Amino acid sequence: MIDRRSLMASAVALGASAAVSGSALARGAKMKPIDPRFPEGFLWGAATAAHQIEGNNLNADLWVIENVPGTIFAERSGDAANSFELWPVDLDLVKGMGLNSYRFSLEWARIEPDEGHFSNAMLDHYKAMIEGCRARGLKPVVTFNHFTTPRWFAAKGGWHNPESPALFARFCDRSARHLAAGIELATTLNEPNLAGVIGEILPPQLLAGDKATQEAAAKQLGVPLYTPGVSLYIKDPKTYRANMMEGHRRGVAAIKAVRPDLPVGVSLAILDDQAVGKNSMRDQIRERYYNEWLRLARETCDFIGVQNYERKVWNAKGPLPAPADARRNAGGIEVWPGSLAGAVRYAYEVTKLPVYVTEHGVNSDDDALRQWLIPAALAELKRTMDDGVPVRGYFHWSLIDNFEWGFGYHHRFGLHSFDRETFKRTAKPSAEMLGSIARRNSL
Ligand code: BGC
Repeated sequence: MIDRRSLMASAVALGASAAVSGSALARGAKMKPIDPRFPEGFLWGAATAAHQIEGNNLNADLWVIENVPGTIFAERSGDAANSFELWPVDLDLVKGMGLNSYRFSLEWARIEPDEGHFSNAMLDHYKAMIEGCRARGLKPVVTFNHFTTPRWFAAKGGWHNPESPALFARFCDRSARHLAAGIELATTLNEPNLAGVIGEILPPQLLAGDKATQEAAAKQLGVPLYTPGVSLYIKDPKTYRANMMEGHRRGVAAIKAVRPDLPVGVSLAILDDQAVGKNSMRDQIRERYYNEWLRLARETCDFIGVQNYERKVWNAKGPLPAPADARRNAGGIEVWPGSLAGAVRYAYEVTKLPVYVTEHGVNSDDDALRQWLIPAALAELKRTMDDGVPVRGYFHWSLIDNFEWGFGYHHRFGLHSFDRETFKRTAKPSAEMLGSIARRNSL
């Protein structure tokens, strides 16, 4: 169930009222020609997250949620792509495509399996990955926390806990002391801007299902509140968001204290929200979903990570439905290549920070859609760069099909597929499509 992005889009589509034309790209075609060359040093990468590919992440908050009787999750993460063992194979895939960078995350639940007990062996594991990147000429971009937290942290209420910012900062400090030397770019949290607000636009039965699953987990563990890092239902959104923001601030400070020259940012989920007609709701939506975090990023970060998968067009009453001829992802949501550039432009307008696209991709079993999307989206991104927006890198989500949270393995974003029994990876044609652009450093 919990594909937050598709849910967000389908939920807002419920209120839709009129059709919108997909003509912005066509309008773009009349503009000045795009310079196909990307700047020297541009980062070309693929992205993953630990819980979604590593497998057997037993101490993570979600392991409890996925396995509790009556869970709202479609299936358990289980072995995932077994990347905890097979990370060298994954790095070879990145290298083999001709990319020059890899974005992956640290798993807090492995590094600090019990509160205050840090595992040097696990820190060494991630150090080996960082060194493995460097040995292959890949620049490691490391997300310190991609949604999942340790189960002991969730059992203390997760980000509701007043100690949560300090606990996260301590994790950042320990990890940075072990790992920062080899990292190219670091981000603190993944898409924290959706936490606590996404529930507002979801069908109530989903929130109720998520709440019931959390309550079942709390009961099983004998704690009053169990809140995992991936939650649709948040008991007290205000406190939760404030703690995440403070956690980010202290996390940045902890990493910078170890290595002041390491660029640190945060990755936000940003739709390309477009305004039509008089009194469009667009600006209200932006204020609610992104601006608080964009402003925090402006104050605290060296760069902003933008993660975009779609656009939404808003009039005064709500979102408009996609054009009838729109191409659609596996969840029925419009796939529109210009959305990435739109989201990037907006993030830059507010923050004035250099931008890295830390995620962009499509949920589809039809790789032709991915092959169409990648060059078209990159062309619009490059047009934005030609207009002066400083975009420094592009990371496709995802290197490999993976555990798509509540949807399990049924939603596939990978440039590679893998066999659930043998874990053998197979490239999809889109891997070569992205690789060829990266190798040329040109559209
Ligand atoms: C997340 C990923 C997720 C992807 C596709 C982002 O929300 O960072 O974990 O798999 O989008 O939904």
